[in-house]
Parts: sequence; C-alpha cells; structure tokens
Amino acid sequence: MKGDKSQERLHFLKEIILDDGSIVRIRRAEVRDAKNLLDYINKAGGESDFLTFGAGEFGRDVKGEEEFIKNISAQDNALFIVAERNGEIIGNAGITGGPRPRIRHTGEFGLSILKDYWGAGIGTAIVKVIIDWSRDSDIFRKINLRVRSDNEGAIHIYKKLGFKEEGLITREFYVNGKFYDAIWMGMEID
Ligand SMILES: CC(C)(COP(=O)(O)OP(=O)(O)OC[C@H]1O[C@@H](n2cnc3c(N)ncnc32)[C@H](O)[C@@H]1OP(=O)(O)O)[C@@H](O)C(=O)NCCC(=O)NCCS
Repeated sequence: MKGDKSQERLHFLKEIILDDGSIVRIRRAEVRDAKNLLDYINKAGGESDFLTFGAGEFGRDVKGEEEFIKNISAQDNALFIVAERNGEIIGNAGITGGPRPRIRHTGEFGLSILKDYWGAGIGTAIVKVIIDWSRDSDIFRKINLRVRSDNEGAIHIYKKLGFKEEGLITREFYVNGKFYDAIWMGMEID
C-alpha cells in the first residue's frame, strides 16, 4: 500500500478544480492507460483539424501504445502526461528530447484536450507543467513545438507563456484536401 502511494506521488504533477467542482489530475501516463489513451486519441483526433491525425488515423494498437509508454517513461529527457477527470482521460501532452548527445537538450512538445473541456484553463496548466518540468530536469535547454499557423487559440497560449515564433514551415499539414502551414515556436530555458 505504501509503495502504491509513493508510486502515485511520483506520477502526480498538478490538480485543477473546474467550475463545476470536479477535479482534473495531471499525471504521468502509465502502461495501464494504453487502451484509454488510444480511445482518447481517436476522439480528440475527430474533434480537431489542428492535430497531425484525425479519428482512426493515429496508427498504433494497444500493444504499440503500451510499448511507447514504457519506452518514453524510461527516458530521462521525456515526459508523457494525461489529464484525467473522474477516471476519464480528457487531455494528453508530451515532450520528447533528442536521442543523441548533441540534441538531447531540445524537446518537441505536443498537446490536446477534449473539446468539451476547451477554455477551462487545462491547456494552459499543462503547458506550465511541461515548462516547469523541463526546467527542473536540468537536461532541457530548449522547448520546440510546431503549430498550425491558423491555430490562434493554441498560439495565444504559447505566446502568453513565453514561446516565441521562430519560423514558418509551408505545407506541413494536409487536411481534407488542403495544405496548411505551421509555425515553429520555441522557448529557451536557462
Ligand atoms: C489548444 C488547446 C490545447 C487549448 O487548451 P484549452 O484548455 O482550451 O486552453 P485554455 O483554456 O488554457 O486557454 C485558452 C486560451 O486561448 C484563448 N483563445 C481561445 N480561442 C482563441 C482564438 N481563436 N484566438 C485567440 N485566443 C483564443 C482563450 O481566450 C484563452 O486565453 P486566456 O487564457 O488568455 O484567457 C485545445 O483547444 C485543443 O486541444 N485544441 C485542439 C488540439 C490543438 O490545437 N492542439 C495544439 C496543437 S499545437
């Protein structure tokens, strides 16, 4: 029992109380989350054209997702998290650093929240968790991300928290027969 508690502390990162009084826990993803995460990813993909996948396009099965979580959890320059409310995964984010010494200090970051929860401050809270964790890691010196150039809500959050625009990538997304540009954004950590 004691072991379970300390394990839980290790995985817990932040709690947010929503207007209806319910609690959203931001914690590290665990291997047991694999099936629920895939269900989440499918749902989130169907709700937004700003992600790199639509519903059913993610291309990973439960075994593959378990393996992914296991591997990423073993990396010291990676953090993979879920936001959970009443046992349901409602958000997901991750940052993964480079695999070799010369790029180990830079991490690319990604984030999504279920549509029902947009605008409740969860996205902002998750980005802050990623920034704080990266800073505390003593490994990361730079966080990078790519965002569709017309994703004004996400760009607003990233700028609000200190990310800067670094460049434009043309034709980064191809969604419903149309190309969309993306912006590289970054935050230096010193
Ligand atoms: C982007 C996303 C993660 C934001 O999460 P969220 O929990 O809704 O974000 P928050 O509630 O913390 O913050 C939303 C902020 O964006 C602002 N915003 C929302 N839509 C906006 C728009 N069209 N233009 C400018 N600002 C906008 C809100 O006013 C709020 O700003 P504030 O905190 O200064 O008041 C979420 O909408 C999402 O998952 N979208 C689909 C996937 C996606 O785009 N992921 C990012 C890929 S890079």
